[in-house]
Amino acid sequence: MLIRRETPADISSIRDVTNLAFKDGPEAPLIDWLRADEGWIPELSLVEDGVLGHVVCTRGYVGDVPALGLGPIAVHPSHQRAGIGSALMHAVLGAAEARGERGVILLGDPGYYARFGFRLASEFGITPPDPAWAPHFQARLFGDVPAGAFRYAEPFNRL
Ligand SMILES: CC(C)(COP(=O)(O)OP(=O)(O)OC[C@H]1O[C@@H](n2cnc3c(N)ncnc32)[C@H](O)[C@@H]1OP(=O)(O)O)[C@@H](O)C(=O)NCCC(=O)NCCS
Repeated sequence: MLIRRETPADISSIRDVTNLAFKDGPEAPLIDWLRADEGWIPELSLVEDGVLGHVVCTRGYVGDVPALGLGPIAVHPSHQRAGIGSALMHAVLGAAEARGERGVILLGDPGYYARFGFRLASEFGITPPDPAWAPHFQARLFGDVPAGAFRYAEPFNRL
């Protein structure tokens, strides 16, 4: 399996795979808004080579300290449970650590993300924008991140 950065030619396929995985939720428009936002980091928007899956991390902050918000991540429903999501996760986490990022934050099922080294963000004193998210709010830290409130890139506020 080949994982690589997105190119302009992939944008429409990313929209399609995201809409299929999230059943036409707000995630596909969110990716387009993020792409136009200052929090977009081109080297952290990755696809499976045939665009059967996509993941993106964007600039967020824990207090004043830069960190990454991971998501959306989506795999084509007909190709889930074949390792594409795991490959995307390993690739984006490796890329994030290699560029010197201090940590990655996400909202998701701990049963899935624990395998990639995520722990509940509350263990690090990192709090979500909505306290109700706490049981699903997770962090994988590479460096020193102080306790504090996490905020995603601005387009997440439009959801
Ligand atoms: C979540 C998602 C990205 C995983 O991608 P994938 O390619 O199916 O994942 P992989 O094949 O690498 O891993 C599958 C493994 O994860 C497990 N898994 C998948 N989703 C899971 C979940 N929500 N909770 C717990 N385990 C999960 C599967 O049981 C499988 O484990 P197994 O191989 O031991 O059976 C994909 O299912 C998807 O696009 N889902 C819809 C969109 C979504 O929910 N995105 C994440 C929002 S946080």
